[in-house]
Formats: sequence, C-alpha cells, structure tokens
Amino acid sequence: MNSRSYKIITFGCQMNEHDSEVISGMLTQRGYTEAAGEDMRNTDIVIINTCSIRENADKRFFGTLGQLKKIKLANPNFTVCVCGCMMQQEHITKKLRQSYPWVDVIFGTHNIHEFPDMLEEMFQRRSTGEEWTVNQIRSSREFRVDRVYRDSDRIVEGLPAKRLFGHKSFVNIMYGCNNFCTYCIVPYTRGREKSRRPEDIIAEVKALAADGVKEVTLLGQNVNSYRGVSADSGNEWDFADLIYALNEVEGLERIRFMTSHPKDLSDKLIAAFAECDKLCNYIHLPVQAGSSSVLRRMNRKYTREQYLELVRKLREAVPGIAISTDIIVGFPGETEEDFCETLSLAEEIQYDSAFTFLYSPRRGTPAADYENQIPEDVKHERFNRLVEVMNRGSKARNAAFVGRVCRVLVDGPDKKSSGILNGRTEEFKLVDFEGPEELIGSMVDVEITASNTFSLQGRIVSEQE
Ligand code: 5AD
Ligand code: SF4
Repeated sequence: MNSRSYKIITFGCQMNEHDSEVISGMLTQRGYTEAAGEDMRNTDIVIINTCSIRENADKRFFGTLGQLKKIKLANPNFTVCVCGCMMQQEHITKKLRQSYPWVDVIFGTHNIHEFPDMLEEMFQRRSTGEEWTVNQIRSSREFRVDRVYRDSDRIVEGLPAKRLFGHKSFVNIMYGCNNFCTYCIVPYTRGREKSRRPEDIIAEVKALAADGVKEVTLLGQNVNSYRGVSADSGNEWDFADLIYALNEVEGLERIRFMTSHPKDLSDKLIAAFAECDKLCNYIHLPVQAGSSSVLRRMNRKYTREQYLELVRKLREAVPGIAISTDIIVGFPGETEEDFCETLSLAEEIQYDSAFTFLYSPRRGTPAADYENQIPEDVKHERFNRLVEVMNRGSKARNAAFVGRVCRVLVDGPDKKSSGILNGRTEEFKLVDFEGPEELIGSMVDVEITASNTFSLQGRIVSEQE
C-alpha cells in the first residue's frame, strides 16, 4: 500500500486547474493521499503545475522552487515534481536541467497521463537503501525522470479526476490553440488544436450528472473552433452541435464554457443560447483591445466594428445575457488614441466583468520583438484608467439585478463571514446570502437585495433540489 502524501500547487487558468484534478485523480487511484494543511514540510511529494501566460507567473514558480529547495536540503526524501506550460518552453527546461538538479520529476502538458509511472520510476532509481547526503541531493540528476514532448496528436481518454466540487465540474472538450495571437505563448505550450470525440464528451457529462454534478464548464482555448469527429458516424460536430446534445443530458442543469474567440462565434451558437435552456446566459468573449489597428497587430482577425456587431447580435438574440472579457493594456505600439478606443468600447458595451492585464512580453512570441514597447509607467497609468471604466460598468450591470429573483447554485460557505453562503446566478454573478450549509450544491431562489461592483447580496425565497 502506498502511504505517501502529495500536494499540488497550481498556477494559471482553469485548464491547469483541471489538469491538476486529473493528476490528483491518478495519484489517488495509485493509493497516494492528498496532504492536509498548507505546510509543505508535512507532505512527501509536491507537484507544481506552472503557467507561462505572463511574467509574474514565471516569477512565482521560481520563488516557490526556492522555498522547496530549503525543505529538500533538510529532508532528502522530499520529492519535487514540476509540470505544466512552463515545461513546454525550452529555455525553462534548460534552466531547470542545469541549475535545479534536485528537482525529481519533470513532465509537460502532453504527457500528464505518464506522470504516475514516471514518479514510480524515480522512486525505484532512488531506492538505493542509503540515506542521501546533501551533496548527493545537490547533484542528484541521475535519479531524475525527465520527459517532455513538444506536441502530440493523441488525446488520452478515461483518466480519473479528483474534482474540487461535488456539484460542478470542468470538462475539457479540446486541447491546444491554432490562433497564434502575437502576444500569446499558449500555441507554443499547449500545441495544435485537437478536439475530443463528441461521444466521449457526452459520456463523461452523463457520468458526471449521474454522480450529482449539476453544472459543467466546457473548457478549451477556443471552444468555438471545436470540430469533433463522431466515432459512430464519422461526421464532424461543431460546438453548437455539442451544446444541443449536452442540453439533453438528464440531471444536468447548467452548461457553461470558456473561452470563446470572437472570430469563430457562429450564428448557430447564438441560436443555441436562445434555444437550449441549460446553456447559461453568460459568455466570456475576450476583446483584448478596442482599436482595429491594435487588433490587427495582435492577429485577432476581427475589427472593433465586427466585435461590436457580435455583441449587438448576442444581446438581441439573448436578452439579459451577461458578457465578460479580457483586455490587454500597453500592447507594443499602442498609442493614446488606440487606448482611448479601448476605453470607449468598454463604455459602450458595459461589460458585466473584465480581466484586465498589463502586456507582458513572452519570449518566442512575435510581439515580444516588436518595436515601440510601451514603458511600464504608461502601461500602469492606462491600466488604472481602464479599471475605473470597467468597474463603473460592472457596478451598473449589477445594480440592475436588485429586486430580481435569481436561481443560484450554492457553491459553499463564505470564507469571511460565518452563516453566509455564496453561489452563482446563471449570469455568473456572485451572490452572498444567509443560509445553512446543507444547501451547498443545491439550487435556491434568491431575491437580490443589494449590489456592488463585484457581487450581489440577497435572501433566499425558496429552496429547490
Ligand atoms: N500579456 C498580457 N496578457 C496576456 N494574455 C495572454 N497573453 C498575454 C500577454 N503576453 C491575456 C489575454 C488572454 C488571457 C488569458 O491572458 O487577455 O485572453
Ligand atoms: Fe492565446 Fe489567442 Fe489562442 Fe487565446 S486564441 S490561447 S489568446 S493564441
């Protein structure tokens, strides 16, 4: 019986969080146990699942490694594994190979399924029966198991996942990205697009629903370009076809998805919003910039006008749909006029919420080599102006909910105040309300009594299963 404990530290997006759930599922299947508590010294194995999207994610990774080294020096049998997007960048693995000999296992985004075997291989190499000395640890490369693939066509089905919540779950429908936005590292770290077969996705969602899951979030870098080939008919399904099929899954109450690229958002999908009762009235539709010339240099393949038209169509077909977005501030060459176009677009649309980012040059992407990089102080100044506009929009959108009764899926107790629960409306609005913990995982009707920029407050008016 395996008695080792593990802890996973996850950086980055939902895709990474879901990969960590799979790693956790595989380790649990092999008899490892998840370590309780925050102190990494009390666990046998630490796995860091890394993110490359912006520079601060890199910095946090190396900061965490520094902490782990101290534990390793005090306890040579402490095991450190690293994986995720950063491992797909050659300059990172080179640095790890040269300067971090004490890291035990290195794997990438394409061979997560191999990790439990790699870990066991490493334990076998290490089982010399002798106590390690500090010098051995410092140069222990010979024990290391290190395997990263550049890309892979293969989708491995049937891996177990240890879910974070009982009532909601992520479901990957595709992997990788073909878009090569000029600022973005993802196509290099996650490889080319590949879609799962529709039957595999439907079977997974049915099994989750049978297990009590009420809400699934379909994951992909660009779900609108989903093209799954049916194992039964050989026909190609698009994303809307998949939504219509999942809408029929018994027991499932809500379908969400992340992320949509505006260039591929079809009228068929907009119609699905109106016709599929389980598809939530919410879309995350990253605009990235409000100026067509910046969008062109970002290789986004739509203009400001086309994006505004898309939003108009969505709002016409799906009244009340909530829209959130991602915006990058300070892309190389962004002028004050370009930036003002982003501000005016945000004012015109009034997003329900937004993730705003300072442009961060990523090695190997075209934009990192563009001239006219924007000075940090200008980026920060623009960022603050944008956040102000965004917050005004969110506040106004949230205020319109006061007085309404919303169905809320209860996620858990509020972290700060006892007796308070929180959950999400179908528009993905966070709502706080009083209630007993037995309600976690169920749907309740909540009357919204107050609002602010980031959340709503309410009171339960009825409970439903
Ligand atoms: N710098 C800043 N933000 C970035 N994003 C992607 N790459 C970068 C970068 N180099 C943002 C985009 C994307 C979100 C997930 O991260 O807005 O939609
Ligand atoms: Fe990155 Fe663009 Fe692909 Fe999104 S669509 S993951 S921003 S390259």
